[in-house]
Amino acid sequence: MTTAAGDGAGAGVVEGAETPPLALVIFGASGDLTSRKILPALANLAERGRLHEGFTVIGVARTEWSDEEFRQVALKEAPGASRRWAKLVSRFRYVAGEYAATETFDRLRELLAEADEHHGTKGNRIYYLATIPDVFAMVVEALAKESCNVPGTGGDFARLVIEKPFGHDLESAVALDRTIHAAFDEDQIYRIDHYMGKETVQNVLALRFANAVFEPIWNRRYIEQVQITVAESIGVEHRGGFYERAGALRDIVQNHVMQVLALTLMEAPTGMDAHHIRDEKVKLLRSIAIPTPDEAVDRAVRGQYTAGVVDRAPVPGYREEDGVAPESATETYVALRLSVENWRWAGVPVYVRTGKRLPGRVTEVVLQFHRVPFLAFEGTLARRLRPNVLVLRIQPDEGISLHFGAKVPGETFELESVAMQFGYNQVFPGREESGGYPRLLHDAMVGDATLFIRSDEVQQAWRIVDPYLQAWSEPGGGLHFYPAGTWGPHIADLLLERSGDSWWVPEP
Ligand code: BG6
Repeated sequence: MTTAAGDGAGAGVVEGAETPPLALVIFGASGDLTSRKILPALANLAERGRLHEGFTVIGVARTEWSDEEFRQVALKEAPGASRRWAKLVSRFRYVAGEYAATETFDRLRELLAEADEHHGTKGNRIYYLATIPDVFAMVVEALAKESCNVPGTGGDFARLVIEKPFGHDLESAVALDRTIHAAFDEDQIYRIDHYMGKETVQNVLALRFANAVFEPIWNRRYIEQVQITVAESIGVEHRGGFYERAGALRDIVQNHVMQVLALTLMEAPTGMDAHHIRDEKVKLLRSIAIPTPDEAVDRAVRGQYTAGVVDRAPVPGYREEDGVAPESATETYVALRLSVENWRWAGVPVYVRTGKRLPGRVTEVVLQFHRVPFLAFEGTLARRLRPNVLVLRIQPDEGISLHFGAKVPGETFELESVAMQFGYNQVFPGREESGGYPRLLHDAMVGDATLFIRSDEVQQAWRIVDPYLQAWSEPGGGLHFYPAGTWGPHIADLLLERSGDSWWVPEP
């Protein structure tokens, strides 16, 4: 709708670029996301000299803070940072006010003009929505009304960064998109899924498309099944109120799991830029079969944790957590059996599972290959062997391992599964797990949208999960309980056992 520059095509995932001068305006500056993720990510970029000298931050929120109070938070959230960060923070400004109020924007405009004049931000703007989702639409409408959807004088861009949840279901996601698109062009919008910022998620692209050995076997002819596990040992912590309305399917599957799955299963892009990669991702998402609500019941398991033991400490059940209803039917665990209807993956089950209060924090993609067509080691101990498995470990201890059978030394022909391992930290020592935010903030600044989620991806991901939400909307909705510290409800094993499969057991 607007004429503002926004060049989301970007340079792609392969090149680094200098960030331009700009003012970053954070709505929700006194909130959790700002202090836990955005400020530490900015400190990380500042420390590594990745921010332009014409860079500053203006925080906006309803909390009555002064500039100084906002700056104190910025310093506190990056305790190891040097004087470089402290110097940058001393420029930060803060606007206390209602998000859509004219006075808020009057003050914001003053501060932006001041930033252009004193700090050389050159009319370039990024507006980051770090608020609760309920006010997304309101802030976006206000930004357009106050002409903040175009660059300031002499500027090249005005961009919007927005963080999930993008809606609550397909209908609300479409409505939110409509509101945003009335204010910003798609190429001005940077939707964050922080999993896309993780090194090892990006490494899926490197593994698949920079090596000759994997792609020829990356299909139904060689791969028997795919599994994606996103396990967390934490509970809902202080986010009970939010989680009650979300649940594991919305919180993790609709976004993080779908993104990892799309990168793992998509076709090879003809270029590593925003258009090509996102086109392939959305094509893959469109080929995931959408079940009817009845089929959904049969292909999914939802669970909720009860009291148990995690990391040797007793923990309460979900229903005892703060902000959670005593009779809550929200799922903290979900397992699905998906299928991809295209030539590459037809007939290959894709199992995904995620849960809170599982035995550990681990995210893995597992590709299990077919068994050999004929086992010549008749009468030996070989049949116990698991088929070959390639494990892409996203976190922690990021790496890749290939599991295969080897002969155990000795007189008998006993075979055992062994693994070839690549560990990120061993090969690239000193690399820190940044959680993804520094990379994503950097890319939003340089205008590279490759790792951000396009509106058609968001909507397609909702189309995939919506039938489950509908199927579960009945009271109780087929909820199964599991003690905290276990791998979810037992019935989730049956989802695989029906086809003779079983869950891969991640190493802790
Ligand atoms: C967030 C979810 O998107 O991802 C949280 O809202 C979850 O519930 C978190 O804990 C997991 O992220 P990570 O990077 O720790 O795997």
